[in-house]
Amino acid sequence: MTEVLQPDQHYEAGPGDAATDYGRVKREGLDTTHGAILYLEDITVSFDGFKALNKLSLDISVGELRCIIGPNGAGKTTMMDVITGKTRPSSGNAWFGQTYDLTRMTEYDIAHHGIGRKFQRPTVFEQHTVFENLEMAMKTNKRVRPTLFFRLGSEQKGKIEEILKLIRLQGQERRLAGLLSHGQKQWLEIGMLLMQEPQLLLLDEPVAGMSDAETARTAELLNELRGKHSIMVVEHDMAFVTEIALDNKVTVLHEGAVLAEGRMQQVQADERVIEVYLGR
Ligand SMILES: Nc1ncnc2c1ncn2[C@@H]1O[C@H](COP(=O)(O)OP(=O)(O)O)[C@@H](O)[C@H]1O
Ligand SMILES: [Mg+2]
Repeated sequence: MTEVLQPDQHYEAGPGDAATDYGRVKREGLDTTHGAILYLEDITVSFDGFKALNKLSLDISVGELRCIIGPNGAGKTTMMDVITGKTRPSSGNAWFGQTYDLTRMTEYDIAHHGIGRKFQRPTVFEQHTVFENLEMAMKTNKRVRPTLFFRLGSEQKGKIEEILKLIRLQGQERRLAGLLSHGQKQWLEIGMLLMQEPQLLLLDEPVAGMSDAETARTAELLNELRGKHSIMVVEHDMAFVTEIALDNKVTVLHEGAVLAEGRMQQVQADERVIEVYLGR
């Protein structure tokens, strides 16, 4: 039976719904017993015969923060399009845990089952306040089951507070989103994604266009999210990637496939990587 909330009731938190819930790595219903949250296997995407992805294989472990680097046109955004159901591969497999075949799901279902994506440009509601933006994001979270008369309970307010702190917008919640700096809008959008409690977060060039100070704070933010979500970050900014990759695996894409994988220092020293990156 579907539970319907009455107008003067607020959503009651269930087990595991603590205010720290944005920190959930995986929720029930997703089988990750083999350790990976995402498996891409031999994915090929052709645009009129041109292979934007060419037998790309890659997997992300539960709780991993994986950086993907690679020159322009390497296929990084196309890979995110495949994972989110925006583009169908012409061949290959894409699995979310062992449970969901992403090649057969709609974009809506994929988002609903816990893959959150941040596009390059911020898409916040400029005419609304920071707080309202986060509130709206929460209301579209299907797990909260809001009604027309949905009201925020203390649990939800606590969660918004927590996210405001994380995204460095505490004290700015009454400002119109349209008045924020570019970097602040990007953080707000990350906050909106976190309100949806994604299990896998995809960030496409999150620091593009940010000031150096904003870039440094974004690195801090991602370091705080480490281990609380599985995260894939596509980025050009090498200094930024070094800050968040630490000793973890970095993947280099080139011509639609994995060119190299390893620690940042290893891939940066790899001759093939230097060649494609510097265009020599
Ligand atoms: N819808 C499309 N139609 C035709 N070609 C495309 C389309 N989307 C991407 N491409 C091409 O696929 C390649 C990979 O693009 P993209 O995934 O955006 O690379 P990246 O994000 O690594 O810069 C590029 O050569 C790009 O021009
Ligand atoms: Mg791109």
